[in-house]
Amino acid sequence: MKRNTVYDTSVIELPKIMNRSGNITSISNYLNIPFSVQRIYYLYDIPSGSERGGHSHKDLHQLIVAISGSFDITLDDGVTKKTVRLDRPNFGLLVVPGIWRELKEFSSGAICLVLASNKYDEKDYIRSYDEFKAFKL
Ligand code: TYD
Repeated sequence: MKRNTVYDTSVIELPKIMNRSGNITSISNYLNIPFSVQRIYYLYDIPSGSERGGHSHKDLHQLIVAISGSFDITLDDGVTKKTVRLDRPNFGLLVVPGIWRELKEFSSGAICLVLASNKYDEKDYIRSYDEFKAFKL
């Protein structure tokens, strides 16, 4: 976790079953993502100009998907920063533990779906950037 870098994060293409009356994307544990989902949450009704995130996790793996609209995620491993724009429901960003993330530039009506490898645990968060930098040493 300490040694993970932004190069360990990746945008993955998810299956898309196309039909004249709409599409389906499904995500299965260990088939499409390298972990088992223990929790799903989503951000919605996000006011224009909002910034979310601003933390790292010690052990949590996540898949982040813009299931509606778009937003930017800046990833930071303490040395390198990388910004990814998510804007399609069949692409997701895999985020490994030990990466600081900030989400911004949400479009109107954006919905950010997160599949997470563990239940909510405040002890897994690093919310201070100084603490994050010390954790990465
Ligand atoms: P946080 O993860 O900091 O949100 P974001 O990264 O989107 O800005 O969570 C915001 C608040 O919601 C915080 O008080 C913790 C709470 N929360 C839960 O209770 N359960 C959850 O599954 C999540 C993700 C957050």
